[in-house]
Amino acid sequence: GNDWVLMKTARAPSNIAVIKYWGKRDEKLILPINSSISVTLDYLFATTTVAVGPSFTSDRLWLNGKEVSMESERYKNCLQQIRSRATDVTDEKTGLVVKKEDWKDLHVHVASRNNFPTAAGLASSAAGFACLVYALAHLMGAKETYEGEFSAIARLGSGSACRSLYGGFVKWNMGKEDSGRDSIATQIVEKDHWKDLVIIIAVVSSRQKETSSTAGMQTSVKTSPLLHHRAEVVVPKRIEQMEQAILKQDFATFAKLTCADSNQFHATCLDTSPPIFYMNDTSRRLIGLVEKWNAHEGTPQAAYTFDAGPNAVLFAPNNEVAKSLLQRILYLFPPAADADISKYVIGDQSIMEL
Ligand code: PMV
Repeated sequence: GNDWVLMKTARAPSNIAVIKYWGKRDEKLILPINSSISVTLDYLFATTTVAVGPSFTSDRLWLNGKEVSMESERYKNCLQQIRSRATDVTDEKTGLVVKKEDWKDLHVHVASRNNFPTAAGLASSAAGFACLVYALAHLMGAKETYEGEFSAIARLGSGSACRSLYGGFVKWNMGKEDSGRDSIATQIVEKDHWKDLVIIIAVVSSRQKETSSTAGMQTSVKTSPLLHHRAEVVVPKRIEQMEQAILKQDFATFAKLTCADSNQFHATCLDTSPPIFYMNDTSRRLIGLVEKWNAHEGTPQAAYTFDAGPNAVLFAPNNEVAKSLLQRILYLFPPAADADISKYVIGDQSIMEL
């Protein structure tokens, strides 16, 4: 008949870079000027439902319940790449068959939702595009022709999205080829490799950032001498050291590199003309807290990192230290008298609002 709808739903996590990506060498293909490393944030995720049916007359997209244009090249590129890899699909429930050649004439409806603030520097685009690519591939029966191909497609949506296709600790290799074929993410190790590591996400503000990462990177590449030094000299060494620190579960090195790289990223923002400020006073007070504590103990107890926004992602080597970190944060930012403290309970990943 002509009245069917085929649907698939997927979930993809966000990620936080501990060695940052900042700056593109190719704007269209989203190829970075340096490699980067991230930790997957399982508790922050996007859930996306994709649907096709003969009655749909255009491709449409809803983000957190609001319809937005699907005209941007980023969406179109991801969709086109998956569409071109579509295969014959048989729906298990209904027995409906969509032939390979039919996909090009079918329009998609996409509905995506984040369980965390959008565009406040918590990589909402990363989870969103990874989820979109994964859900579309599932719907259309698209298969990777080489390992990492879907991450290269997610990269066309948002650079950091390529790292959200894998769990645990992930490296995005900048790659060498002009085609972007080798600019893909690979898993360094699974999450279980470093079971004791605790992640605390401190939501400082859920306000949208003023400078998008796309616009920020463009001006940084054009105007910041520090950025080029960073990409050519500093990051290549850090990538190797960070990979080793993760493999060895060496928290002291992990913490030093993570903080240093966050600070250098924000320094390049300040080195950009006009300068970009992503952190606020609360962010800086959190940095002060961690730095003073680490200096006092003589060895890193905790680490912090900030993306293109004021929210902090904090790391502790184990639950005991994480509890102590939490106490210090709550001392500095006392919760309201009627606040529900139980939501601050430490698991391997916690989210708190300051
Ligand atoms: O992928 P984008 O355009 O959202 O850029 C991400 C940039 C940072 O979050 C600041 C760093 C990173 O590596 O994720």
